[in-house]
Amino acid sequence: MEILAFNTVFWNIIKTLLILFLFSILYDWVQMFLWKRKYKIKGPFPVPVFGNLLTYIMAPGADHQRKRIEKYGDVFGGPSASVKVLNVANIELLKKIMIKDHVEFQNRFVFPGAFDPPPADKTLLTMEDEVWKRVRSIITPSFSAGKLKQTSRVDLLQLMLNAELQDDENESKITKRLSAEELTGQMFIVIVAGYETTASLLQYVAYVLATNPDVQDKLIAEIDKCISEDVSELKYDVIQDMPYLDQVINETLRIFLY
Ligand SMILES: *[C@@H]1O[C@H](CO)[C@@H](O)[C@H](O)[C@H]1NC(C)=O
Ligand SMILES: *[C@@H]1O[C@H](CO)[C@@H](O)[C@H](O)[C@H]1NC(C)=O
Repeated sequence: MEILAFNTVFWNIIKTLLILFLFSILYDWVQMFLWKRKYKIKGPFPVPVFGNLLTYIMAPGADHQRKRIEKYGDVFGGPSASVKVLNVANIELLKKIMIKDHVEFQNRFVFPGAFDPPPADKTLLTMEDEVWKRVRSIITPSFSAGKLKQTSRVDLLQLMLNAELQDDENESKITKRLSAEELTGQMFIVIVAGYETTASLLQYVAYVLATNPDVQDKLIAEIDKCISEDVSELKYDVIQDMPYLDQVINETLRIFLY
């Protein structure tokens, strides 16, 4: 008898949990539609739990994205699992988001754990709100055209070290300086974003030049004309004055790395 009673209670609990679970899924699903209706967001039909995530996984890449833009317009979206996503392909709106109103859009979506362990998490990509604002305002001057022009061998690390908090300085200066962890985090991003991208581009440029000897000859002629024998004299301004080099790089980017 007792075992039977226990069984009944057990199954009732399971049933209740199951109903609650299904109800929460349904509730989330309805919320997805309410959100889309509230902001008049067009986009693929969201399914329970996943939203539009499966659409993007099954049809990834630029070509599929272009088709979706044709179908839904230049602003569309929907929830991808628990994250609300808006795709913007409107150039005026993008200018506002990235330049004019960028302060409103400073935080990035970061996959949990993508920037572990510390101090890799102390980069501009992962920092938020006030911390982001502070660090950005400190390191932006390190990358200004003026600073880059001053020296032929730019030592970014030195520029940032100048902004590092000295141990003997007290907290009142912390607003204008970087902590050691923050400094390390910024160098990490410089390596990932700076070296890897440049290295890939140079590989493609080398390939393009090797397969187009006429372009290579023309480029060599331009470089020989602009740069004297002494390579240590190579300055930022000199490189700015090489239109053909600029064209070769732009065209390589256009072909391979859209
Ligand atoms: C911190 O530095 C400021 C200016 O350098 C000074 O006026 C202040 O007394 C210092 N505070 C402490 C706690 O040392
Ligand atoms: C190469 O692209 C940059 C960035 O879009 C542009 O400012 C520059 O004028 C282009 N150079 C040439 C030679 O078209």
